[in-house]
Amino acid sequence: MSGEGRQPIRLLVFSASLRAGSLNTRLARLAADAIRRGGAEVDMASMADFDAPSFNGDVEEADGFPSGAQAFRERLEGSDAFVVCCPEYNASMPGMLKNAIDWVSRFRPQPFHERHGLLLSASPSMVGGNRSLWALRVPFEHLGARMYPDMFSLAQAHQAFGEDGQLENTALQTRLDSTVEAFMDLVEADKHYPCAKKAWVEFLGERPEPVIDRVE
Ligand SMILES: Cc1cc2nc3c(=O)[nH]c(=O)nc-3n(C[C@H](O)[C@H](O)[C@H](O)COP(=O)(O)O)c2cc1C
Repeated sequence: MSGEGRQPIRLLVFSASLRAGSLNTRLARLAADAIRRGGAEVDMASMADFDAPSFNGDVEEADGFPSGAQAFRERLEGSDAFVVCCPEYNASMPGMLKNAIDWVSRFRPQPFHERHGLLLSASPSMVGGNRSLWALRVPFEHLGARMYPDMFSLAQAHQAFGEDGQLENTALQTRLDSTVEAFMDLVEADKHYPCAKKAWVEFLGERPEPVIDRVE
């Protein structure tokens, strides 16, 4: 679907790297560009906005939630969906991101539940940090997020960007744009066309049933 005629949706986009020269932040900017071109609104966040001390149940009980966790929750709740560009650290996600997810999972209602998510990664390696995304699916799916089946991992990312910030390989740039656009179609359908939402959920093998639906 082109941007023209799209019903309003808003996507939170962030890179899970704190590094100034982050390859994932560069990829996040490209995803944000594709979203705006597709006619949706972007809330561009930085992982620094969501930084929080290591989760500690005693701290939660005594002091409540740290400001980074509150900010993450607010920005999730202010968006229809989220897009994460995640570095791969030791074949998994950075601990900082898992810690942020753990804090946010303690809010009620739990903000990831039924929220759509798209996962992207960039790495200098030949597999583009893809293992971080498989690891990241586990907590998100556990929390009831609707993780988009397709993912995009940018291999040899240190050589992938041109002077203009675009991907030099136009086939890869097209693949990124089309993945983002297909995700947006799903988010729009979920928000604005309830019949499409029912079809999608049933396609995933779930039968909406109030008695057994997950309760939060
Ligand atoms: C602690 C650590 C572990 C890493 N482990 C991996 C890894 O398992 N696989 C990989 O492809 N790259 C790994 N890298 C390299 C990162 O992919 C690379 O530094 C990348 O640029 C980080 O993302 P950023 O540029 O967005 O900060 C690791 C880097 C660090 C600092």
